[in-house]
Amino acid sequence: MPQIINGRNIANEIQDDLRADISEWLKTNKRNPSLVAVLVGDDPASIKYVEKKMEAAKYVGIDSKIEKLPDTISESELISKINHLNEDVSVDGILVQLPVPEHISERNVCNAVNPIKDVDGFHFSNAGKLCLNMDTFVPCTVLAVIELLKRTGVETFAKNIVVCGRSKHIGLPLSILLHSDARNQLPGLEATVTMCHRNTPPEQLRVFTKLADIVISATGVVHLIKEDMVKQGACVVDIGMTRTKTQEGKVKLVGDVDFENVKNVAEYITPVPGGVGPVTVAMLMKNTFKAAKIHLS
Ligand code: GUN
Repeated sequence: MPQIINGRNIANEIQDDLRADISEWLKTNKRNPSLVAVLVGDDPASIKYVEKKMEAAKYVGIDSKIEKLPDTISESELISKINHLNEDVSVDGILVQLPVPEHISERNVCNAVNPIKDVDGFHFSNAGKLCLNMDTFVPCTVLAVIELLKRTGVETFAKNIVVCGRSKHIGLPLSILLHSDARNQLPGLEATVTMCHRNTPPEQLRVFTKLADIVISATGVVHLIKEDMVKQGACVVDIGMTRTKTQEGKVKLVGDVDFENVKNVAEYITPVPGGVGPVTVAMLMKNTFKAAKIHLS
């Protein structure tokens, strides 16, 4: 029987510890850490994710606010809003919920956030620091995967890891941390990492995943990872979260991993929902507390 990694329990543990740490910190600090989420438009998935972040913030003792903006806003108006938040001394952490509307450059928006308030770790200077293993804001999903592996006791040293997906916010930074040297300011996990992506031929992908001790998928391709692609006893981490509709018309989140079948061969596996997602939110709270400590030190 595989161990199904319970992301909700792990997120609760992290948030309980953080709530205690923030409460202790408040004894010597005048105000709570604070977070602003910028939400452009009314995409139901984005609204839901931001609400989850606000809920977690409230629980751990972070003051939070949603800055709602219409999807007709121009890129320069959005950047000017971000600049106001950058200058606002009462704001420690800023995130712009992605995706932004097509007429706005996601890269320009990520680069507009002050790097010391960049709790998503998406600013180019923070991404660059991560590549050089310098202390920085690491993207929350990357932190979540590392935390899940650590708390589950899955060894990474000298192991083979396949990362599917090369996004600049998840696949790339995750691959960098997984293969890096542990003796760094930002410690790496010392694995041998293979990055696969949309142009990896399917038969080649299977060769790589079959050799892997850990398979991590972040592609948004529903059920990309099948039972016959996974080595017996491997750990499988699913970052995919595709919104689909059930026959009754209800929204259902579906991962990159064919969970029902892959669980027959994996020793550890994360479900969707309830795996990486809740831990990602908990790591955002950790990054916001880190930003507050830098800001108010
Ligand atoms: N949209 C999907 N995931 C994320 C995330 O981690 N941060 C932001 N800002 N937007 C997202």
